[in-house]
Amino acid sequence: MSSTGSSDLVIVANRLPVDRVELNDGTPGWRRSPGGLVTAIEPVMRANEGTWIGWPGGTEQDLKPFEDDGMDLVPMTMTDREIENHYEGFSNGTLWPLYHDLVAKPEFHREWWDAYVAVNRRFAEKAAEHASEDATVWVHDYQMQLVPQMLRELRPDLRIGFYLHIPFPPAELFQQLPWRRQILEGLLGADLVGFQLPGAAANFVRLVRQRVGHKTHRDLIYLPDGRTVRAGAFPISIDAAGFEELSRSEPVGKRAAEIREALGSPRKVFLGIDRLDYTKGIYARLRAFSELIADGHFDVEDAVFVQVAVPSREQVEQYRILRDEIDRLVGRINGDLGRIGRPAISYLHSSYPREEMAALYRMADIMVVTPYRDGMNLVAKEYVACRFEDDGALVLSEFAGAADELRQAWLINPYDINGMKAALLEAYQADDRELGRRMRAMRKTISQHDVAAWADSFMAELAAVRPTHGKAVRPARRS
Ligand code: F6P
Repeated sequence: MSSTGSSDLVIVANRLPVDRVELNDGTPGWRRSPGGLVTAIEPVMRANEGTWIGWPGGTEQDLKPFEDDGMDLVPMTMTDREIENHYEGFSNGTLWPLYHDLVAKPEFHREWWDAYVAVNRRFAEKAAEHASEDATVWVHDYQMQLVPQMLRELRPDLRIGFYLHIPFPPAELFQQLPWRRQILEGLLGADLVGFQLPGAAANFVRLVRQRVGHKTHRDLIYLPDGRTVRAGAFPISIDAAGFEELSRSEPVGKRAAEIREALGSPRKVFLGIDRLDYTKGIYARLRAFSELIADGHFDVEDAVFVQVAVPSREQVEQYRILRDEIDRLVGRINGDLGRIGRPAISYLHSSYPREEMAALYRMADIMVVTPYRDGMNLVAKEYVACRFEDDGALVLSEFAGAADELRQAWLINPYDINGMKAALLEAYQADDRELGRRMRAMRKTISQHDVAAWADSFMAELAAVRPTHGKAVRPARRS
């Protein structure tokens, strides 16, 4: 950020990369926010000395822009009512379930929509204030879909990109939304609208043609004002080299061994790491694992399951219900199948720093990722990046975006418990040759397409769609 407070690259996301929290000693401090979005954008930000506009969680007002770990952060405040209606309501009670195949039932409330519009407008105004002349503004995710159009009206000079981190639904589902046209028009304020998968981009273009009536040709949309908007697929990735380096490090190796020992040194460890979200299929996966023990395929001396559930959206009713259900299930499984000092499932309701995650990935033999629907799922990619000895198995839902690239995983349908059990058992029994063959192929994919490549391809495409304006954005790749 320059001394005038304006920047050539501005990121707009609902969340800042850090959350305002109360530290153990009672004083206010900052902690890393959960979720894949933050993990993905941080390297791009660092390479460009950009400015990040977002909400730091909570209701604290009057937080000033500040620098954190080399990033310029602009905190946006939200009132209790806005959190209830914009964040918990329209974003996570309407859009989240609607965009995830109706895994839960979306609710449609007009006051939620009004708050969504108001909050999007405030974020757009803040971006307009911080972007320098001809700057690039990159808007992220479903909470901010109206920002591109609002920002375009305020600052026609800007180059605007939008990226959706979650799935974009098929037309039949999207059409339920009472404000479908406004959302489409909101997104069309961008020069480039990016999605995880080609199918999502195609859904969007078709909806624009049918619902807004603009002319389209393949991935291009022609607006009456002469602008052309492109919709494309940019599958997101991770800092693969960074994760591998961390996983190879001595402290992480030591910690991995410690965790295994604390688990009682079983022959095999299964691992799940997710935000505690109903889209992730945690319940079904724990049931499948427990049934394998109950059916006598192995016992708790042979294998245990470590499930990390990162607390998420705890004020939203469906998330509270899920937490209770998982608590009950884990209690029941451990009560029925565990032995003294050897629970079948080690359940951790907490978030962990990157180092601890890397240690978990390094110590686990079988990574289990079973969402009913997921935009990408970066945990699957992180696991692969950490397996530098070309071992370990990945069991992956075919409904996660990552399944498009990680074809050598054991792909499962999370609705099919018997199919999931068969895959878990196969992965458990696989020999080193089979594991090596699969893991080597997946590691090649991940190393060739990391988060820097993702960001660079989005930025290059954005510059190509709007070639005559805008300053160049530096590649995210580290030299
Ligand atoms: O990647 C999807 C996403 O909803 C992000 O937009 C978000 O930052 C992350 O998951 C975590 O969710 P939340 O911000 O609601 O805690």
